[in-house]
Amino acid sequence: MKIVSVPIPGKAYDVVIETGLLQRIDHFVDANRQIVIITDDNIPSIHVETVVAKLPSSLVLKVPEGESSKSMEMALSLTDRMIEKNITRDALLIALGGGVVGDLAGFVAATYMRGIDYIQIPTTLLAQIDSSVGGKVAVNASHMKNAIGAFKQPKLVLIDPLTLETLEPRHFNNGMAEMIKYGLIASKPLFDALLKQDVKSNLEEFIESCVIIKKTIVTEDEYDTGIRQILNYGHTIGHALEQLSNYALLHGEAIAIGMAMMSIGMPFEDDLRRLLHKYDLPDTYEYDKTALFEYVRTDKKASSTSLNMIVVEEVGKGYIKPISLSDFKARL
Ligand code: GLY
Repeated sequence: MKIVSVPIPGKAYDVVIETGLLQRIDHFVDANRQIVIITDDNIPSIHVETVVAKLPSSLVLKVPEGESSKSMEMALSLTDRMIEKNITRDALLIALGGGVVGDLAGFVAATYMRGIDYIQIPTTLLAQIDSSVGGKVAVNASHMKNAIGAFKQPKLVLIDPLTLETLEPRHFNNGMAEMIKYGLIASKPLFDALLKQDVKSNLEEFIESCVIIKKTIVTEDEYDTGIRQILNYGHTIGHALEQLSNYALLHGEAIAIGMAMMSIGMPFEDDLRRLLHKYDLPDTYEYDKTALFEYVRTDKKASSTSLNMIVVEEVGKGYIKPISLSDFKARL
């Protein structure tokens, strides 16, 4: 078992990583508490059954799989269902699933009766190494991803790498894009290990390395006003492509393309493309430059005249570089 502490002042919590942890969920969660599990209809039923067997009085609420569930309508529907079942303010909400479930359930936890406790049990690689840690929760607006949200730190994050065995390869690789990103922005040893090793042979250690990087960054900058923005490497273009593709591109696939575009001419460009290909991730995409720029211009991270690009010139050393929107457009 590995435990990574996230020491955000006044909101500290642990990330526990252990193969087979779901079988012991009652060691980490008080089964006598009122518990609501939010999950989706695509997560293998074995995971839900394993958790419910140990927390039998839980209320299980399922949402349809996919980005379209990250909506105000779905948050309202979940809230109404919780009110109908007399869920009180001292209840515990559990997000059991991938990034969509984590963001949506976290948003409900942040807003239900002005906020209730929640824990994250991420079951995809992307959610385990990124979205479950750091407290960003949100739903999408009609034309903007994550436009309505909050910072709401979980009480605990429980990661069982066994859940990745049931993940389709495309979804595993989706998470690999974020793992490669961590190497590029913060850890040359991680990037080098990814080039040399098979991630699946040492999954717990690779997950732990990513969680340690993420916790270090979010502890320093919980509210994303500074260093946390380096986590957005490849994301300015990636988020725009994700939306332009109407979410046909998975998040990791879109940021893989974004990272490849940002790496052009850098000394690690070939290594990055090799890694992306190793995990069947795309490194190019045909897109309409005007439409892409429109998404970037209206991204919530952009100001009216500029945006913060994340630049990596040397592996492991990402930094923030403000760039005017006109310069950005010219570089597309
Ligand atoms: N996924 C980026 C962040 O948590 O800031």
